[in-house]
Amino acid sequence: MKKILLVGNGAREHVIAETLKKSKHEVEIYVVGKARNPGLAEYSTEYMIAEVTDLEAIREFALDVKPDFAVMGPEAPIAAGVVDMLLEIEIPSASPLETVGRLETSKAFTRDLLMKYDIPGNPKFKVFFEEDGIEEFFEDLGDDFVVKADGLKGGKGVKVSGDHLEGKSDGIKFAKECLVDAGRVVVEEKIVGQEFSLMCFSDGKTVVPMPIAQDHKRAYDNDEGPNTGGMGSYSDANHILPFLRDDDLTQALKITQKVAEALFKETGALFKGIMYGGFFATKNGVKLVEYNARFGDPEVMNVLPLLKTDFVDICEAIIAGSLDKIDIEFEKKATVCKYVVPEGYPENSAKNKKIEIEDGDNNALMYFSSVDGREDGLYLSGSRAIAFVGIADTLLEAEKIAQSALITVKGPVFYRNDIGKTEVIEKKIQFMDKLRG
Ligand code: GLY
Repeated sequence: MKKILLVGNGAREHVIAETLKKSKHEVEIYVVGKARNPGLAEYSTEYMIAEVTDLEAIREFALDVKPDFAVMGPEAPIAAGVVDMLLEIEIPSASPLETVGRLETSKAFTRDLLMKYDIPGNPKFKVFFEEDGIEEFFEDLGDDFVVKADGLKGGKGVKVSGDHLEGKSDGIKFAKECLVDAGRVVVEEKIVGQEFSLMCFSDGKTVVPMPIAQDHKRAYDNDEGPNTGGMGSYSDANHILPFLRDDDLTQALKITQKVAEALFKETGALFKGIMYGGFFATKNGVKLVEYNARFGDPEVMNVLPLLKTDFVDICEAIIAGSLDKIDIEFEKKATVCKYVVPEGYPENSAKNKKIEIEDGDNNALMYFSSVDGREDGLYLSGSRAIAFVGIADTLLEAEKIAQSALITVKGPVFYRNDIGKTEVIEKKIQFMDKLRG
């Protein structure tokens, strides 16, 4: 019997629980989440409602349950030191300690790490601790720039010229605000290319790639509208995206391997968990946007359903430092994941409104996120509600499966129709071909 403590309550944790339950070991899952996710609850032996950063509540629960190990779903418990606290009571985690979780929480730390250890992938950037020199650096960058607030900001800390910032004066104003808020700010060149997510299992020494996926952050079709937590994502049967070249994967994986080594040299701690690199393929090779210290959401739903290797064994290998001893395999299938979200999402989401899922003739996987399961049915609770995943031999088929499931959800909701569609992917291929020359 393996007892596993799982922290978090979104669709990411729903698919993590499902994948752990597929193990050849007998598994009991103990969830800590701030709301009761009805899908996740089905896999759990016990479900404690608490903030995922509540160290005292989680400590009490863990002392009572005595899990074999823990897994953190989101970044907040990692940043709050839940992994460190659990280790003090001798419960290991397949998630990183706070000190190496800084890879996600501090954009400046990560940029400096790449520079110090001579790891490729950094765009032109500077970290500022005071206003001196900010205006000159914006002059140097020209019209294309990115301003990154340091620390967790729930996706609102990164602003890009042309998208969120009108021109240099807007950029300088936001950079100065970040300085006041956090005491430092990162300003960097805007990267032109196509973004992709490469998530790797890491035990601190060995990093093992998962299939590459691409997320869609904008709320509406054609990448319009406000930024969201991610409206959907896809991955292809050969585990690399149609607009990427094999060398893009090689470069991104090498960067991740070197970052894991550098983290150990810098902090003395091994990064155990998921290293999720947000990269861009550009005409000058692969550039790093940022690292996250956990699975991407929605990208986790593209990869975990394809995992052929026992996930409990992988978690234990992460903890033991023996990832080099197991073969990790994924099915060679294409996947498309699309979220149904409340009307008004992300700024003014419909809440406490009932939704119904009609019977549909589809075989999509379904993962619950921000929904409240009440006696009389499902209610929206304000963020991304339900994700559907189509899995097939081709992207064309996978997209059709996901789409035919989306339309079964009735209520005040919307979703993106274009994610994974052939014509959209074709445009990305053409864009990259032109960019690379
Ligand atoms: N896919 C975006 C995120 O997980 O942060």
